[in-house]
Amino acid sequence: MNPSTAPAWPAALYQHWYAIARLDRLRRKPQAITLLDRHFVIAPDQHGGWFALEDRCPHRQLALSAGCLRDGQLQCPYHGWRFDSEGRLSALPGHDPQQPLPPIRVPAFPLQAHDGLLWLRPASSGAPLPPALALELEPAQRRFLWQAQWRGHVLEVMENFLDALHTHYVHAGWLRRDGQRQPTAVELQVAGDRVRVDYRGQPAQSGLVWQLFESARSGESAHFQLPGSTRLQYDYRNGARACVSLHFSPVDARHTRILATFHISGRWAPRWAVRALLWPLLAHVGRQDAAILAAQQDNMDRFPGRRPARMHGDVLRPLLEDWWLHGRTPDPAHARELTLWL
Ligand code: FES
Ligand SMILES: [Fe+2]
Repeated sequence: MNPSTAPAWPAALYQHWYAIARLDRLRRKPQAITLLDRHFVIAPDQHGGWFALEDRCPHRQLALSAGCLRDGQLQCPYHGWRFDSEGRLSALPGHDPQQPLPPIRVPAFPLQAHDGLLWLRPASSGAPLPPALALELEPAQRRFLWQAQWRGHVLEVMENFLDALHTHYVHAGWLRRDGQRQPTAVELQVAGDRVRVDYRGQPAQSGLVWQLFESARSGESAHFQLPGSTRLQYDYRNGARACVSLHFSPVDARHTRILATFHISGRWAPRWAVRALLWPLLAHVGRQDAAILAAQQDNMDRFPGRRPARMHGDVLRPLLEDWWLHGRTPDPAHARELTLWL
């Protein structure tokens, strides 16, 4: 994208950690990653880990992701300059060995692996760790990982996951049924950079997924933590808990990367059974969301610059807009209680 036309993301967004890849799908070679319209190369180091650099050779500006690895260093495809895992120039072919190497450096960025996902902070300083919403789940309780890239601005894609009011239509019969709505008490709480929405008074949900796989719920909650982590958490009267976590990382203003995990505790649910029985249904629900979001993006492109309407039940939208459009952290003044018919 031409930099003069690249959308400006709020500077605060770059100070945080984003999930960028499933570790089990990464091949041990350099690869390009775009995050918030900035371009990175991630490459394997010699200790089984990974390092991240800006995807631009400072010599004549080739993409380093098109290069190769030599002795744990990244070699540019054009003139063979090499950079170590900190981005320091470590070899300059053709250079007189009597002369010192020029102190050239490619910007380097921190990476962290956790619970099957690789996280990147696209700034040299900022938040010390990925969001607690991801770190606090037990890796042993994870049943699967999933990765996708959907069409849509991160704000729309994230709202779609956290919003209950589309489920009666887009997922009619699968998650909920329009003819079986019940009043549900909704409470939104804000604590620091975390937001929690509790839905009370719905022990049963009116769709196929609940009927096939769930039992009476004692609680249902939606969580959001800066920058792009979310979780739908289902607590059951029998003590079990299921957590669907989606971590969103904007590629650009029209595409959003999603890294997801599914954790279960307190009930029999081996990985193979979750994969064979539950996953096909969730994958179908995911395709329904991807399709509606792509259709939304297409129509927004037909009406550029137009703003969406607001309504009382937009529980999380104002907080998500504050963050993604203005870089403002969640305002405790958004805390409130309301009733929705779900
Ligand atoms: S452009 Fe990278 S070494 Fe010349
Ligand atoms: Fe959905």
